[in-house]
Amino acid sequence: MRATPQSTTADLDAAPRAWQGQLTARSLTGEDPALRAAYRLCQRTTRVHDPAIHALIQLMPAVLRPACWALWAAASILDDLADQQDAGQAEREARVQAWTQALQRDLAAGTSTDPVRHALVDTALRWHLDLSSLQVAMTSTRDDVRDRHFADWAAWRAWCEALVPWVDQVRHLFEQAGAPMTLRLDRQQDYKQFIDGAQLTDILTDLSADLTQGLLLLPQEALDAFPGAEDDLRQRRWSPAASALIGDLTALARQWVTRPAMTRSMHPGAANVLNTAACLMRAQLDAVDAAGPALLKRAPRPSVVARTRILAPARIRSHLAWSLTPLTMPGPRRPAVNASVPGPAAEDTALRPPPPHRDGAKPPQIAADRMPSHVAVIMDGNGRWAEQRGLPRFEGHRAGTAAAHEMVYGALEIGLRHLTLYAFSTENWKRDTEEVTTILEAMRRDLDEGPIRDLDVRQRWSGRPDKLPEDLVQALLREERRTRNRTGLTLTVCINYGGRDEITRAAAALAQAAQAGDVAPHLISEDDFARHLPHPDMPDVDLLWRTGNEQRTSNFLPWHATYAELHFTPDYWPDVDRRDLWQAITEYSRRQRRHGAAPLISPRRPPTAPSRPI
Ligand code: IPE
Ligand code: IPE
Ligand code: MG
Repeated sequence: MRATPQSTTADLDAAPRAWQGQLTARSLTGEDPALRAAYRLCQRTTRVHDPAIHALIQLMPAVLRPACWALWAAASILDDLADQQDAGQAEREARVQAWTQALQRDLAAGTSTDPVRHALVDTALRWHLDLSSLQVAMTSTRDDVRDRHFADWAAWRAWCEALVPWVDQVRHLFEQAGAPMTLRLDRQQDYKQFIDGAQLTDILTDLSADLTQGLLLLPQEALDAFPGAEDDLRQRRWSPAASALIGDLTALARQWVTRPAMTRSMHPGAANVLNTAACLMRAQLDAVDAAGPALLKRAPRPSVVARTRILAPARIRSHLAWSLTPLTMPGPRRPAVNASVPGPAAEDTALRPPPPHRDGAKPPQIAADRMPSHVAVIMDGNGRWAEQRGLPRFEGHRAGTAAAHEMVYGALEIGLRHLTLYAFSTENWKRDTEEVTTILEAMRRDLDEGPIRDLDVRQRWSGRPDKLPEDLVQALLREERRTRNRTGLTLTVCINYGGRDEITRAAAALAQAAQAGDVAPHLISEDDFARHLPHPDMPDVDLLWRTGNEQRTSNFLPWHATYAELHFTPDYWPDVDRRDLWQAITEYSRRQRRHGAAPLISPRRPPTAPSRPI
């Protein structure tokens, strides 16, 4: 899709000496010459691949630049391997996998013969970066080779999310260097849109190169809104429909990258990098708009004057901002003995089956058309369980964690697709601080060390970030990213969740979309509303189960559970295990669901004559 730099030292020798000198970062003076050469190659790869990114990295403190070049070069190389036209799909997939597996080995060895990996390994060790989240992104690059069709914006956005772990590494670098790029948790939506906007800008810019390869990396939903535009673009015809589609998309991308609230209260140096990125992307989108039919021939670029107008003042701001925060580069490090980084292959094979039930109980056989797809559980009764035993309430929550694990094991064994657990409500803040603290602390520990980590479970979190401890939110987001490609069970844990809050947030997002002209208020449908919920892909709840002898839903999933079958059981939560989940599912499988239709009448049998004694 983009220019293909080769990761060889021969390239370095081909570079003019004066240019090489200019590229040498001051921060690398004194390093081993092979490592310096490796970082220089990374810088050059970044510059050739994406001059705008290169310019942005120059706005970072000098000590962080080499690490950013290494990360960017690695991402570019993987992108190229996934795109190489000289090879068939299987071969390209194998090349991406070979590169990531080699990286794993190199990380364990602490060095590499490949210059880009050499620089990346040095970066990871020096800055204590955990590259395991990148391994997930690398796996999606590999999968990316396979599937490039997006039915709608949701599918397209899921593809864009592969960028997030790379951005996170840069954040982590800032943090390690002592200039945290604090992201406001209430602005998560802004960050996601910013990344989507960056990706859309990139796709619009590279349209001609992608079309040459037969790629049109836009969601079908967007193409269908302009009948004929898709065919015209594929045939390289600059028709009114094609032009209207591009105009619509540049406007959308411009809106997505313009998120002024995103950088409020950030370090001025970090804010400068993000604000300048937004300006460069808007200039890029102006160039796309101005290109007209030429967009189908080559990638448009903003003029030197336009770029200089943005970059010159940004460099001055950067110099000022970073001069106030002196940062130092840590020395090189060797890997710990037996260090290993879970890679995609290692991670997949490391997935374990759930441990068996302690009495060897096995799940019942439920016919596929009688299985619920989504079971949601209100895990109630922890406090009373503890009080009944004369224990402090937190002991009940501790015991409740084991029961939650049991549910996950049971769900995997019976083949459930979606399990949603209510763990902490927006109303639970009314409890005393000690109880709240122990509940939240136990959750964080469970995310870090719990037995769910290695099961085939895609973990997600639903709830509000505010008021929750930052380390818990970070652990939740980390697990979400780490497990996003797993296919066994989707486990959504609701923490600081409120159903009314969820609906209010969806309404606010919809109002914003209407204000921006993305949806017509008088045409809003239930589907439009559902698309603006925090987890638009969460299916309706089929079975809602509450333990603890209470018969209410306590603000849990009001949108999704409107037609759920209800199941209430008397036991306190710590006393239940996977057999109770199976029992709930068995009972569900016997119910008749009607969704408003008339009851099904069983086929008429001939009336049997009353038996009469003769
Ligand atoms: C459910 O158990 C867990 C949370 C709400 C966090 P409870 O703590 O509500 O237990 P009871 O209802 O007081 O027994
Ligand atoms: C519901 O339980 C919330 C969770 C299980 C997390 P509560 O115990 O808080 O509900 P109420 O207050 O009894 O309705
Ligand atoms: Mg309760």
